Amino acid sequence: MIILGIESSCDETAVALIRDGEVLCSLVSSQIEVHRPFGGVVPEVAAREHLNIIAPLFHQACETAGITPEGIDLIAVTQGPGLMGALLVGLSFAKGLAVALNKPLIPVDHVHAHIHGAVFEVPNFANLFPALSLVVSGGHSNLYFMENPTSFKLIAATIDDACGECFDKVAKLYGFGYPGGPVVERIARTGNPKAYEMPKMMPENKRMAFSYSGLKTHMLYLRKKLEGGLTDAVLADVFAAFQEEALNQIMRKLKQAMHLYPAAKHIIVGGGVAMNGRLRAKAAKELALPAIFAPRAYCIDNAAMIAALGWQRYQSTIDKTVFSDHNWDAYARYDFTVGV
Ligand code: KG4
Ligand code: ZN
Repeated sequence: MIILGIESSCDETAVALIRDGEVLCSLVSSQIEVHRPFGGVVPEVAAREHLNIIAPLFHQACETAGITPEGIDLIAVTQGPGLMGALLVGLSFAKGLAVALNKPLIPVDHVHAHIHGAVFEVPNFANLFPALSLVVSGGHSNLYFMENPTSFKLIAATIDDACGECFDKVAKLYGFGYPGGPVVERIARTGNPKAYEMPKMMPENKRMAFSYSGLKTHMLYLRKKLEGGLTDAVLADVFAAFQEEALNQIMRKLKQAMHLYPAAKHIIVGGGVAMNGRLRAKAAKELALPAIFAPRAYCIDNAAMIAALGWQRYQSTIDKTVFSDHNWDAYARYDFTVGV
């Protein structure tokens, strides 16, 4: 089966074509340079950029994969969460295609789809369940217990900043641009993670939630204290210590979740922060369960993960006629696991 995935929730327009679990083509057009002068994503600008790029990107994807639009069997599209104007561009484009081609249209939750980035890492994704799954991105730090590939029970989320957001804000405090995560990781590589003590947020056996704003504030005061003495070597130590605590919090919550959900056989990790090499190394060393990470190309926002979750949803839904209505909106969330 050929599945088209469409993603437009924030500042990346993405189109992918997959054949079952195999990626035929995954194109991502980033708007990062367009938003840079504003210091953040401007929703109205994002929507207009999506509108300009989405049709040419779709044609380019078909050409690259050697597929005609008529050859597409299913269309999966990000329905939310995200910037409303941006989402409506992708959703409306997908609806138009689905109506014109008379194909099923499957609305997909963007955050859930990050987990399905790992489909492209393991040959039999379905065998990983029951599992704990973690999405650590610029907008979310969500931990789920999953009985199967399409059931997402949220067991922890952030009470303030997301993990990637914290990397971004801390990098900005120290004079670096967006995205902050890769910069922090690169600089931290030569530093000593034990050189500075960091506040421990959400310690063991406490609330099942994430919190990153206290760590960010600590980094702000440390920046002020170090003023003038922030050499390259000091910065490497500061970033190494910060990164370690940001990731230790994830380790603590995963260990706590493993106690609460002993049925889990694997840990699945996706989202932009899953690119982090130190997180990957710590997970392999410190966790009692095998941790499966999405391949790096499918950690950041992409449409292959949207197609992958759409395909799973289609397979697990008994009454497939619900996907022929094309009657989805960008405000409601749909849970097909309960059988529509
Ligand atoms: O998943 P994503 O592309 O966007 C959202 O859906 O939010 O994730 C982007 C986030 C940014 O916050 C970025 O700083 C972070 O992922 N990130 C990293 C690394 N690479 C990207 N964080 C830590 N270490 C990295 N190597
Ligand atoms: Zn994302």
